[in-house]
Amino acid sequence: MLAPGDKSISHRALLFGALGTTPMQVRNLAPGADVRSSAACVRALGVAVAEGEAPGTVTVVGVGPSGFMSPASALDCGNSGTTMRLLLGLVAGARVSCLLDGDASLRRRPMRRVLGPLRAMGARMEGQGGPEDEHAPLRVEPAPALTGTSHRLAIASAQVKSAIVLAGLAAEGETRVSEPEASRDHTERMLGAWGAPVRVEAGEVVVSRLQRPLVLPEALDVPGDPSSAAFWVGAGLLVPGASVVVRGVDVNPTRTGFLSVLARMGARVELEPEASRAGDPVATLRVIGGQALRGTEILPAEVPSLLDEIPLLAVVASQASGETRVTGARELRVKESDRLLQLVVGLRAMGAEIDELPDGFVLRGPSRLHAAAIDAAHDHRIAMAFAIAGLVADGETEVDGAEWADISYPGFFRHLGTATAHALAPGP
Ligand code: S3P
Repeated sequence: MLAPGDKSISHRALLFGALGTTPMQVRNLAPGADVRSSAACVRALGVAVAEGEAPGTVTVVGVGPSGFMSPASALDCGNSGTTMRLLLGLVAGARVSCLLDGDASLRRRPMRRVLGPLRAMGARMEGQGGPEDEHAPLRVEPAPALTGTSHRLAIASAQVKSAIVLAGLAAEGETRVSEPEASRDHTERMLGAWGAPVRVEAGEVVVSRLQRPLVLPEALDVPGDPSSAAFWVGAGLLVPGASVVVRGVDVNPTRTGFLSVLARMGARVELEPEASRAGDPVATLRVIGGQALRGTEILPAEVPSLLDEIPLLAVVASQASGETRVTGARELRVKESDRLLQLVVGLRAMGAEIDELPDGFVLRGPSRLHAAAIDAAHDHRIAMAFAIAGLVADGETEVDGAEWADISYPGFFRHLGTATAHALAPGP
């Protein structure tokens, strides 16, 4: 099967495409609602995003670094933290007035981590809330000028890093961003490849002012999303006799921590290299099932490289023998839902032995899972992870809010239905 286009690269193609002025055709754009939110927001700022005839193909024509217009109404980021945080960086120095808003989940997510550093650069933006944090709706006013900054993130975050880098493109002088561990590096790679003055020096991203529009490729092929592919890899490992091959998957090393952890657990997933796409390495993932899995420790330093895959890894770990311990993952509490809480509640309801930690969990496997009613908690990754748990549970698991999968992977449940009838059908 094919994983849908990568969500992180797709957001960036639209948001960075805005900084060019020549048409860029984007193929295999991520189909989910989150990326549609980014498209709608850049359109409202004056960028042309036209749907092509082939599904997943759009053509972006940007306005260049100084061409944004103030939108007529609020920029609706929907459920997408990436849209909201990267957009803040894009508009920080753009001399526009706008209001950034989102759904109930996005309105709860912490925004001071972006607003603080951008304000220190001179941006004029504020959110709602008290001294603890700030939340959407976020009001942005034109700033007379931005000045470069040197900022060390307290917690690794590609969204916060990217927002500061984007603001740095509109700032006088140099902007430097570093983080405790490496988060996904699509922003640095894509902007650097498209002629922006962005480089990486000893793990620090160094940015200068963008004086002219980005030099965009005429066409960009988005590779498959490893975070979506992970669910099929998990299914291939857990369902006895299953045969799973996922083609066209982005295997950028900042995204493949889940594959290293699965290898440590005894899983066999073979990578066959394919031609690179969007500047990233790409591979076919071939899952060789039937290996005995053992628990492992996921250390804080590994967490950024597998952040979005932890729900799926927890499900896999429930079928591995021994203890799996995850620490340093407090960030999961401020994702689309409190993912640590949802994992513990859901897996316990299915019979797993799992204890919650403030920044992770300890799970002792293997457990025979039984069906339960699972609340997706308005969270796409929780919905999909528990669907995979349902494949190995006795009885019929019901995921309430399964439609939230549409945020990153519309068609996931349809593919699951087809796959269980074929590739995932248990062997003899
Ligand atoms: C993303 C960064 C990560 C990740 C999210 C996408 C990105 O968030 O969880 O799904 O595209 O930059 P953080 O920046 O909060 O780590």
